[in-house]
Order: sequence, then C-alpha cells, then structure tokens
Amino acid sequence: MTEQKTTFADQKRKTVETAEFTEDGRYKRKVRSFVLRTGRLSEFQRNMMNENWATLGLEHQATPFDFVQIYGNHNPVILEIGFGMGKSLVEMALQNPDKNYLGIEVHTPGVGACIAYAVEKQVKNLRVICHDATEILRDCIADGSLGGLQLFFPDPWHKAKHHKRRIVQPHFVAQVTQKLMPQGFIHMATDWENYAEQMLNVLKSAVDLRNVSETGDYIPRPDFRPLTKFEQRGHRLGHGVWDLYFIKK
Ligand SMILES: C[S@@+](CC[C@H](N)C(=O)[O-])C[C@H]1O[C@@H](n2cnc3c(N)ncnc32)[C@H](O)[C@@H]1O
Repeated sequence: MTEQKTTFADQKRKTVETAEFTEDGRYKRKVRSFVLRTGRLSEFQRNMMNENWATLGLEHQATPFDFVQIYGNHNPVILEIGFGMGKSLVEMALQNPDKNYLGIEVHTPGVGACIAYAVEKQVKNLRVICHDATEILRDCIADGSLGGLQLFFPDPWHKAKHHKRRIVQPHFVAQVTQKLMPQGFIHMATDWENYAEQMLNVLKSAVDLRNVSETGDYIPRPDFRPLTKFEQRGHRLGHGVWDLYFIKK
C-alpha cells in the first residue's frame, strides 16, 4: 500500500482555530459553536482544495482583509458563516455577480466540495476560508466593511445545557453589526423554533438594527435564498423554517 502524503488540505483539518494562552501560559479553552467532525475528505475534495486554494482560499490573518485587492472591485461583500457543502453559496454568487461573497466553514469536506462546485461553475466573486468564523470576524474584517451577513441553519445545539454553544448570542450580533456598513443586512434562517426565538430576541435587542418583517418577527421564506442541504433535511423531518432579516440603521 502506498503511504498517503499529508497535503495542505489534510493539514487544514487541524488548524481551524488559533491557539490562545492565559497569562500563565495555559491553553485557553473556548466555547465553540462547532465540533470538528472527522467526516471523510474525499480524494476529489482534497485535490480541489489543494489545487485551487491559491485563487479561492483565504487564510486567517491578524489584520483586516483588503477586499478591493482580493476581489478586484468595490462591490459589497456578503459574508456567509457555516456554508456546509457550499452549493447554495455558489448559486447565490452566480445569481449576484454585482456582489462579492466570502464563505467561512470549518468542515474541510464542505470546503473541498464548495471549491469544486465554484470551479465547475467558474465563479469569480467568491472566496472561502476554513477557520472559526468568530476569529475571522474579530481579526480579519474591518468595521463597517460588510454589505451583509448570512447565517443559514447554524448548528441548533438542541439541549439547554449546550445553548451557550449557539453562535447567535448578543456579543456575536453586536460584533457583526459593527462590521456591517449602514444599510447592511443580517439574514438568518433556522428549522429549529427554539433557536428562531433566540435569534429574534437577540436581534430585536440590538438597537442599531431594524427588523424588516411586517409582522415584527419573521419574514416569509425569500425566493432569493437557495434551498440548502440542511433545509432539505429539515423538510424531510417535517420541520418548519424561520427566516429573519434585519438592516443596520
Ligand atoms: C447545520 S450546518 C448548516 C450548513 C449549511 N448552511 C446548510 O444549511 O446546509 C452548520 C455548519 O456551520 C459550521 N460552523 C459552525 N460554527 C462555525 C464557526 N464558528 N465557523 C465556521 N463554521 C462554523 C459547521 O461546520 C456546519 O457545517
């Protein structure tokens, strides 16, 4: 049997977060919104990641990204956190050539699949990152620089004792709002009613945000949001879907 060489894509599976230490040098354990799954990275996904990272991938860095330099234009940048396998993100990028898309996902098979689909569709207005989104937001995104934030079917963390792991928390929304330009949007969707209620409460409490919902809560499912893999799964399980859409004042 030939020995498999460890490639860039394999390495990425272990480096989706920055190690941080306490003053006395102990590793800081953080509450994460994800568990790194060991799902198989197929040969195809691995190759697509290795071959196209130079053009489609971005790394975590200590200073804000220069979007004009990255995309070669001044179009608004839409950030999507947790794009899964990336199909709906690529479709949105194709449908909106006047916008730039930045996708973040920690699950490498998803990153590989997204890159493969983006290459197949020859998408030019998309870049992907394989790193914890909360660190990317904190370190790499300048204040007032995003046209919008998309968060579709984030991990619901069903059990009450795990609710602290849900990515939608007041400090997360405050940080995202700070990164948005005026009139920038936050669009969330979930198939878990209890999480939808938490999203609504957190978003409604943010003074700089305005809910576009005519009923003061959710919006009807918009046609411009492609069906995602998790949404499809939710349909099969008989779940409802809640979309939330807020604008920065
Ligand atoms: C339930 S899945 C939904 C995927 C996709 N949006 C869909 O609807 O099919 C949530 C995804 O978010 C990713 N995720 C969770 N926390 C993240 C974080 N802090 N940074 C980047 N990705 C994250 C997970 O790896 C997972 O793939």
